[in-house]
Amino acid sequence: MKVLLTAGPTREPIDPVRFLTNRSSGKMGYTLAGAFLHEGHSVLLISGPTNLDVPDGVDFIPVETAAEMHDAVARYIGKMDVAVFSAAVADYTPSGVRSQKIKKSGDTLTLELVRTADILGSAREKFGFTGTLVGFAAETENLEANAREKLVRKQCDLVIANDVSQPGIGFDSDENQVLLVYPDRTETLPRASKVELSLTLVDAIVGIKKLRVD
Ligand code: CTP
Ligand code: CA
Repeated sequence: MKVLLTAGPTREPIDPVRFLTNRSSGKMGYTLAGAFLHEGHSVLLISGPTNLDVPDGVDFIPVETAAEMHDAVARYIGKMDVAVFSAAVADYTPSGVRSQKIKKSGDTLTLELVRTADILGSAREKFGFTGTLVGFAAETENLEANAREKLVRKQCDLVIANDVSQPGIGFDSDENQVLLVYPDRTETLPRASKVELSLTLVDAIVGIKKLRVD
């Protein structure tokens, strides 16, 4: 199958020396990319800046901003069987990039931010994607309810949810513990290394596709 993956944070420039970003190492997405490849699928990874090596054999499009990630996904998603959105996309971006470095003055600074496009939320209606659609939800409270709301709102087949308030999992960690939230059920997976978990996730995601085709 042809698999598109988004990963990493986005970076929204404020001025020539500063940007807004999200906490995301990209590890889960890059490990998933490797796992899909290992299972014989072709992978296009669209990623914001990370310190990670792109697995050999993975097609790669580096992006910086949410807008660039949106445009890359819009361009390629039509050719894909599966799309997995693991990127931590900025929800807001500065309303304009200052051409010069902002100088210090006064005790407070107000930045005006504008909403970015919801890339995963555009997949079905705006991009017309009919393949298997998988989102992530990193939450600090009401994990299952928040993930289920995203599953419905973004018309996903699966949302992979993790509680980022728990120490030792998610973010920079090599381990993760997730809930699989499907339209008709929820499954709790045991805590595992991201490598191990990725193979389980690939099976779960590919399994959805088989169900649709049969
Ligand atoms: N996502 C996306 N584009 C955005 C925001 C989010 O593609 N502009 C994707 C993420 O990659 C993830 C899923 O949507 O797969 C959920 O992201 P999340 O930030 O949890 O959802 P939001 O809709 O932005 O809601 P929240 O207000 O909780 O941030
Ligand atoms: Ca968000």
